[in-house]
Order: sequence, then C-alpha cells, then structure tokens
Amino acid sequence: MYEGNPRHCWTMAGKQGRQWRSMCKGLVLGTFLTSCMILLYCLSTPQIHLSLPEVPVPYSCAHRPSQLHPKPTTNSSHQTHGQTCAPKVDIMFMKTHKTASSTFLNILFRFGEKHRLKFAFPDSRNDFFYPSLFERSQVKDYRPGMCFNIICNHMRFNAPEVAKLLPVDTSYITILRDPAELFESSFHYFGRLVPFTWKIPGDDKLTEFLHDPHYYFDPEGFNSFYLKNLLFFDFGQDNTLELDDPRVEEGIKFIIDRFQLVMLVEYFEESLILLKDALCWEMDDLLFFKLNARKGSTVSKLTPELRARALKWNAIDWKLYQHFNQTFWKKVDAYGRQRMAEDVAELRRRNEEMTSICIEGGRAVEAGSIQETAMQPWQPIGEKSIMGYNLKKNVDKAHRKLCRKMLMPELQYLTELGVNLWITKLWGHVRDIINW
Ligand SMILES: *[C@@H]1O[C@H](CO)[C@@H](O)[C@H](O)[C@H]1NC(C)=O
Ligand SMILES: *[C@@H]1O[C@H](CO)[C@@H](O)[C@H](O)[C@H]1NC(C)=O
Repeated sequence: MYEGNPRHCWTMAGKQGRQWRSMCKGLVLGTFLTSCMILLYCLSTPQIHLSLPEVPVPYSCAHRPSQLHPKPTTNSSHQTHGQTCAPKVDIMFMKTHKTASSTFLNILFRFGEKHRLKFAFPDSRNDFFYPSLFERSQVKDYRPGMCFNIICNHMRFNAPEVAKLLPVDTSYITILRDPAELFESSFHYFGRLVPFTWKIPGDDKLTEFLHDPHYYFDPEGFNSFYLKNLLFFDFGQDNTLELDDPRVEEGIKFIIDRFQLVMLVEYFEESLILLKDALCWEMDDLLFFKLNARKGSTVSKLTPELRARALKWNAIDWKLYQHFNQTFWKKVDAYGRQRMAEDVAELRRRNEEMTSICIEGGRAVEAGSIQETAMQPWQPIGEKSIMGYNLKKNVDKAHRKLCRKMLMPELQYLTELGVNLWITKLWGHVRDIINW
C-alpha cells in the first residue's frame, strides 16, 4: 500500500497529526542513514583491506628543534623562574561528545594555524567514521611515515592505531563532563537518532526514560551508545559493562596511563591553565568564546532525583569522572591554588576584553538572529536551540582576523582548514529539505 511513496506518507501525516509526521521523519532519516552507512562502507572498504606497511613514527613532528622557538620571558608571565620552554605542538585531543569540545577545538585550530602545524583530519566528514573504532586509513591523505602534529576530530579511541599515526612525543589530552549533565545533553542532542526513544511516551522523554531505563534501553539498538556511558564508549571501551566487572577498572586504568591531562568542563578555565602549564603555551593561546551553547530555555535543570538516576544509569562514566575530578584538584594544588585563581582571573579578563572587541551586543544570540551564514552553528535534529554570535561591524584591523576565527563555528573552520565535508553538508541539505 505504501510502496515507499513519501507523498502518501506526508498526506497521512497531515491527517493524523504530529505522531505520524515524526514517524515519517524517522523513516526518512532511517533510510537516509542506512544509505549513508552503505555508501560509506563501500567507499572505505578498499582502504580497510589495504594492509598498511608498518613504518615507525618519528620522535617529534615539531618543524624545528624545540630550542628555536623558546617561550618569550615577558614579565606578564607568572613563571617566576623565568625558564624558557618550547610549546608542545604534537597533540592528540580525544574529543568526547557534549563536553564543550567545539570550544576547545577552536582553540586548537588557532594554535595549529599560528604554528603552521599539520592536522590529521578525516576525509569528507567531520569525524573519523564514529562510532567505528579509529583507523589510520581514515585520515585524509594518509601515507605511512607521514608527520602529523594534531588530531582532534571525533573518533572512537583506538590507542594502537593512534600510536602508529602520531609521533612518540605526542601529548594526549581529553575532557570530561559531569555524567548526569552529559547524559541530559546527549539525550537532548542525539535522542532522536536513537530509534528506541521513539516509543517512549510523553513529552518529557528523559524523565520517563530515567524512571525505567532497563525497560526502554536496547543495548543492541542503533546508536544506543549515545544514551549510556558515552564517555567510556568514546574511549573505545564497552559502555554496557556492569560496574563491578573487572574490565571497568582496567578501562579506567588504561585511560589514566594514556592521557597526560584530563580537563573538566565544569572547570574549563582552570583546565586551560593546567594545559598551558603542561604544554608550555601562552595565555594568548587560551582565549576563547563559548561555542555551541544551548539556548537557556532548552537547558533542562535536572532535579536531584533525576540527577541521581542519571548517575546510577551512567555508573561507569560517574566512576571515571570522580577519579579524574580527584586527580584534577591534586594538579591544581601542585600548581598552587592562589596562582591558579590569579591566572583564571586574568584569562577571564582577557576573554571579556575580546568579547567587547569582537561580539555585537556582547553575547550569544539565537540562530535566527545570526546575520552571516558563515557564523551559523550546526543545529541538533529537530530544533534550532544552539546559539551563535554576530561579529561586530567595525572591528579594528588588528583584531579583525582573530575575532573572526574565535567566533567561527567548527564546520566552517574545518572547511577553511581544507577539510572537504561533503557528507556532512549533504546531510544538512537533506535536513533542510525535510525541514527537520
Ligand atoms: C621586566 O620588568 C623589569 C622591571 O619590573 C624591567 O626592567 C624589564 O625590562 C622587564 N622585562 C621585560 C622582558 O619586559
Ligand atoms: C570534584 O571535586 C571537588 C573538589 O574536591 C568537589 O568539590 C566537587 O564536588 C567534585 N565534583 C563532583 C561532581 O564530584
């Protein structure tokens, strides 16, 4: 009867209200995603079968011996010993989901441009075939023996493959977020991409889900990882383990051993100061505007009860977070609480200064009020809840370029850095057509 005729489907949608409409969208989406997966699979198959020769990675991919660009010893620096150190330029940033990582990517992009670093980017899209495990062959223009400085797009972490791509001296860094907040954000942002959520009744699907997650959750379901221990999953681990499974402890140990710095969203500025200290960067490198922020009305405030449920449901991520929250504050103690407070205050002051220089009206606005398409952020499925910025009209020449880059959303910046995003863009056009 339906014969896959979308017009028939839409007519019915008109008659039977929103539920049909959302089911139709689901079908269109499902079909589209499946086609995409098949297409991508076909495109990537030859690469997978090509066994790459093993060429040892270099020790470092810094352009010049590190002594040649020492950190200037200015008086504004709080470094009392006046030591010089060279900024670390070989960086693996494990970009976790819904963790302010777009804001951090903007910082990395600017740092990379400043030092003319080579990024290992994905090809044709903005992630490394997530949720498949990372493989070197997914890197754009990859050939064994090449030198890359930075990798920072979404991936499902796969340590051996990353180690075969990046130099030995690479600094591994990542960022975590309170798992209850992360779960709420992920549910908001990705919920509609997870088919088992379509059958959850009511308007407040999150609350309903958390009241009986075992009933609704389908571990085998398409995209189900977005809704359980997403952090642990991003690190390449099994997100469905029971908390007392020994592999949970092993997985956390593995992350501890691998990553030199684990930043926390809740203490973003403090994290950046620790980063500056660990990688020998400058305060100028840390300037940022908060990108991809959600409109206030769509940010749900979890009640204490829901928060407790969310943490129980994401128990592995909660354990992971608590561990790194402890080590974080040990690092802050080692850095010096007072010194940290002063540096954070300086960073905030500098960011505010940049805000008044660059941003029209001094704050983020809703998508509809953003004048330039170049400044439009990518929106979640089904709504326009992500805010963006308008660049001030007459920024002085000295700041114009910096302002533009600081405000540029991730996809636009990737394009500017030479990444061809045709799959991502095609997906955007399809969404425009079906008005999702
Ligand atoms: C640092 O400050 C001292 C005096 O406070 C000044 O003599 C010196 O030139 C300054 N150094 C730099 C690199 O600005
Ligand atoms: C993280 O650690 C700090 C300092 O010990 C503590 O105040 C805070 O409550 C912890 N956060 C979480 C979410 O456990």
